[in-house]
Amino acid sequence: MTDLHVPLDRQQGGLAAQLAAELRGSIRDGRLAPGTRLPASRDLAADLAVSRGVVVEAYEQLVAEGFLVSRVGKGTHVAAAVSAPRQAPPPPREDTVCAPFYGHRPTSPDLSGFPRERWLASVRHVLSTLPSDAFDYGDPGGVPELRQELAGYLKRVRAASVRPENLIIVGGVAQGLSLSLHVLGVERLAIEDPSSSRQFPLLRRAGATPVPVPCDDEGLDVKALAASGAEAVLLTPAHHYPTGVVLSPGRRAELIEWGGIVLEDDYDAEFRFDRDPVGCLQGLAPDRVILSGSVSKSLAPGLRLGWVAAPEDLASAVRQARGELDLGSPVIEQYALAHFLRTGGYDRHLRRTRREYRRRRDALVTALNEQLPEIRVRGIEAGLHVYLELPGDGDEAAAAAAAQALGLAAEPVGPMRFRPGPPAIVVGFARLPAHRAAGAVRELKVRMSGQRID
Ligand SMILES: Cc1ncc(COP(=O)(O)O)c(C=O)c1O
Repeated sequence: MTDLHVPLDRQQGGLAAQLAAELRGSIRDGRLAPGTRLPASRDLAADLAVSRGVVVEAYEQLVAEGFLVSRVGKGTHVAAAVSAPRQAPPPPREDTVCAPFYGHRPTSPDLSGFPRERWLASVRHVLSTLPSDAFDYGDPGGVPELRQELAGYLKRVRAASVRPENLIIVGGVAQGLSLSLHVLGVERLAIEDPSSSRQFPLLRRAGATPVPVPCDDEGLDVKALAASGAEAVLLTPAHHYPTGVVLSPGRRAELIEWGGIVLEDDYDAEFRFDRDPVGCLQGLAPDRVILSGSVSKSLAPGLRLGWVAAPEDLASAVRQARGELDLGSPVIEQYALAHFLRTGGYDRHLRRTRREYRRRRDALVTALNEQLPEIRVRGIEAGLHVYLELPGDGDEAAAAAAAQALGLAAEPVGPMRFRPGPPAIVVGFARLPAHRAAGAVRELKVRMSGQRID
């Protein structure tokens, strides 16, 4: 039986609370390991010279909090899950200690540019004007004001064919895809080869088996898609991830003729730099294309706000699924986004960030072309990352590691491929200031050639 030494301050009173606090602390820091059996209340009370009621009360409190479990005839034990002492994080790698940090994911925006003041103004407006009832569980399909604003925005900016009834507010593209696949019951889902490997677990969890379809300089090969036997296809037509190819007009037409269900991942469509954005596919065939988008690249992934535009019957099935699964998205943020859209804050933010990202892209591409001409820089028309095709014998894992060591968000393309292809990496530039680009590429060149950095 565990012998417990518990210091109690009798002057202070509240002995049960003191005992509970001591035991909680011991469990948290691992002195009392998971599964440890605690003394019977009578024994511990005798050891501590307190009444048995004090111990019973402390045990009951910790059982209610989940620190202890108590079973009739088996005594009281430390619960299995709560007490694992926190692992110290691994020490930073020496070569990255002083490196500046330019981001986690190649597709992520520059979070330091989040429009805090304007967002705050929208939140303040929402909190000061909405009636209390508005903070109840909302419509699981999203608050009507936001669907209204988004329908207007998507029509105007993405040439989508939507009405508020076709829109479901979700927690981002990822959730939009999960729900759509779940509702459609897709079993064989064609995906672009290569494509974002982060999505593979999501697709499998939604019951879909990915069927890779090759991509070339025009985007997805629609003839190969037709031969694949897949019922539906998931693709990134505005800016293929990872290669950055924009689906060509010919392929768009072929895809619409193909006749299956199209899941359109519109993850970074707002950022097209040299021309107007290409309209979304959904606008061409709203009966067969399900569009998913979000504010993850335009504002911040942490907001977890996105949308699905789908034919009305499917939209109501998605809404019902959302209601059954988790009752919908946070209401205050939805109203805030609606206000942000209505007052022009979103458009202004996009105009400003598009200009700045374009400068950053230009600086990075110029530096790469000048200093590493053996690397083919692709996919620069849109989005927040570039696709760097290495020379034939290039080591993409080493190149990605070299870029990461500089603080850049970079990933090798190998794990995203189903068929072999030229070695390549993707590199995010959203957080790399233009004036740092040349220096970063200079250092990348040195690291990639395996020389020492002093
Ligand atoms: C290609 C692609 N699609 C979808 C997503 C998921 O986006 P969201 O944050 O909207 O769920 C990401 C995120 O990095 C992405 O890169």
